[in-house]
Amino acid sequence: MPEAPTGRPYVFVNMVSTLDGKTTLGGDHPSASGIGSETDQKLMHRLQEIADGILIGAGTLRAGNIIYPIGPVRAAISASCDLPLENRFFRDDPERLRIFTVRGCDNLGLNRFCVYDLAPLPQNRLDVLQVLAILREREGVRRLLVEGGARLNFELLSRDVLDEIFLTVAPKLTGGQDRPTVIGGAGLDAGAFRRMRLISIYRHGSEIYMRYRRNGR
Ligand SMILES: NC(=O)c1ccc[n+]([C@@H]2O[C@H](COP(=O)([O-])OP(=O)(O)OC[C@H]3O[C@@H](n4cnc5c(N)ncnc54)[C@H](OP(=O)(O)O)[C@@H]3O)[C@@H](O)[C@H]2O)c1
Repeated sequence: MPEAPTGRPYVFVNMVSTLDGKTTLGGDHPSASGIGSETDQKLMHRLQEIADGILIGAGTLRAGNIIYPIGPVRAAISASCDLPLENRFFRDDPERLRIFTVRGCDNLGLNRFCVYDLAPLPQNRLDVLQVLAILREREGVRRLLVEGGARLNFELLSRDVLDEIFLTVAPKLTGGQDRPTVIGGAGLDAGAFRRMRLISIYRHGSEIYMRYRRNGR
C-alpha cells in the first residue's frame, strides 16, 4: 500500500454490494448483513488488520453491532450525536475510540470517550479534511480503513481523498430503488467523475473482489 500523503492518512474504503449495486438487503433494519460470503468476511478482517485506524459514519453504526479488532483507532463521525452507545463499537476498546462531532452537540453519554467537537461547515457538516488531519497528526494514523457508509464515502470522494476502494460484488440480486449504493450524497457536479485504475481482481466461485486506486496516487 502506498505511503500516507503529507498531513493525512492514506484512505482505503471497503464495501460489498450485490450484483445490482445495492449495499443493503432492505427490511426494517437494513444492513450489509447477508450480502458477502465468508471469503468476503475474511478479506474484511484482513483489511482491518493492516489498518491503524478505522472510520465509519453514524448511519452504519446505527444499522447494527460493529465489531473491530482491538488495537487500531476506531473512529465515527456524526453531526447529530445520535449514537447507539450499547453498540460493541463503543464497548470493545473504549481507550482507542474517537468520536468526531459538531461543536455544541449534546450527548452526555459521550463524556467518557475521546470526542473531537469541531466547528461545522454549512449544513452542519464536518470537514472531512480536518477529520483526516486530526487522525494523522494527533492520532498517528497512516493507513485509514473506511467502512462506509454511502454518505461518508461521498464526503471523501467530494474532497478527493478517497485513495482506494476495495469492492466485493456478490452474485445476488435484490432490487429496490431506494436501497443505498456504494457512494451516495449529492453526487459530483453534472458530468464530473473521478477516474480510478484497477489494481487487482480476484474471483472465488461467483463472487468478485476488486481493488481500484485513484489515478495519480
Ligand atoms: N454493504 C456495505 O459494504 C456497507 C458498508 C457500510 C454501510 N452499509 C449500510 O449503509 C447504511 C448506512 O448508510 P449511510 O449513507 O447512512 O451512511 P453513513 O455514511 O454510515 O452515515 C451517515 C451519517 O454519518 C454522519 N456523517 C457522515 N459524514 C459526515 C460529515 N461530513 N459531517 C457530519 N456527519 C457526517 C452523519 O451522522 P448523523 O446523522 O449522526 O449526523 C450522517 O447522517 C446502513 O444500512 C449500513 O448497514 C453497507
